Amino acid sequence: MKNRKGIILAGGSGTRLYPLTMALSKQLMPVYDKPMIYYPIYTLMLAGIREILIITTPRDNASFRELLGDGSKWGMRFEYMIQENPNGLAEAFILGADFIGEDNVALILGDNLFYGESLRKILTKANSDEDNSTIFGYQVKDPERYGVVETDEEGNAISIIEKPEHPRTNLAVPGLYFYTNDVVEIARNVQPSERGELEITSVNEEYMRRKQLKVVKLGRGMAWFDTGTHDALIETAQFVQTIQKRQGLLICSPDELAFENGWITRSQLAELSVPLKKTEYGQSLKALAEGDEMPW
Ligand code: DAU
Repeated sequence: MKNRKGIILAGGSGTRLYPLTMALSKQLMPVYDKPMIYYPIYTLMLAGIREILIITTPRDNASFRELLGDGSKWGMRFEYMIQENPNGLAEAFILGADFIGEDNVALILGDNLFYGESLRKILTKANSDEDNSTIFGYQVKDPERYGVVETDEEGNAISIIEKPEHPRTNLAVPGLYFYTNDVVEIARNVQPSERGELEITSVNEEYMRRKQLKVVKLGRGMAWFDTGTHDALIETAQFVQTIQKRQGLLICSPDELAFENGWITRSQLAELSVPLKKTEYGQSLKALAEGDEMPW
């Protein structure tokens, strides 16, 4: 199978979270017990992606490196890059062209959280489709805030509009995109939109024109949050807290998944838990490292 790389776009100005983000990146904000960027890292890991490029603002690059390092603690490889200005989501593929090389790629926005029972199956399937690109559709009450997609019966995209005034469906497109290697060339040819950005929707439109864009609907049991406002931030944190407390299982822990994926050993997991031992997060990891059975 063709390798797939991952990109996390963790730049942007974060003005919708001011004053929180005046001195610190949005994607480093807490979502209950973990920094926000742990959640998209987890999602890419769940798809089986081990090499990730993390794109940040010039100001925050050093903080992300300090938090995440080179990825080896989770059996992964992280590279870092700076986006000088928030020129749009599609710029990720222009900046990341060398990193992507000949491989396929998945992009996830650094403020998107996905959680649900069948997520691994859905992501693995998208990852293994080498000839098409895959985006997702998630039913929301307020589609006008997002990219909105319309599909035919076979799941092919037939229209996709960025923040439409009169949405044709209530299917929002979450910030997770699986693309073929052509995305680099497609992104290079995207023209800036009226708001002056290289829109991801323009990339999707081009794949749609080529009849290579699949839309997978995420169903009822799936949670998708975009944590970019004060309310969304606390609601997402409460969701994570509620389920973790109820089940005693961690939500979107890269430490745990690295072990589950077989990318680190039991003793490496035990080591990771040591500096975190004063927290329930760290105690969960320790219990997992010492346990005979996986909790899932
Ligand atoms: O969350 C899903 C939505 O994300 C999609 O439905 C839309 O189609 C897509 O355009 C995007 O819409 P947003 O309005 O949420 O995009 P925003 O400009 O807020 O950027 C999303 C994240 O990406 C944000 O956390 C900051 C980061 N970002 C944004 C831009 C424009 C960057 O890192 N660099 C950028 O240049």
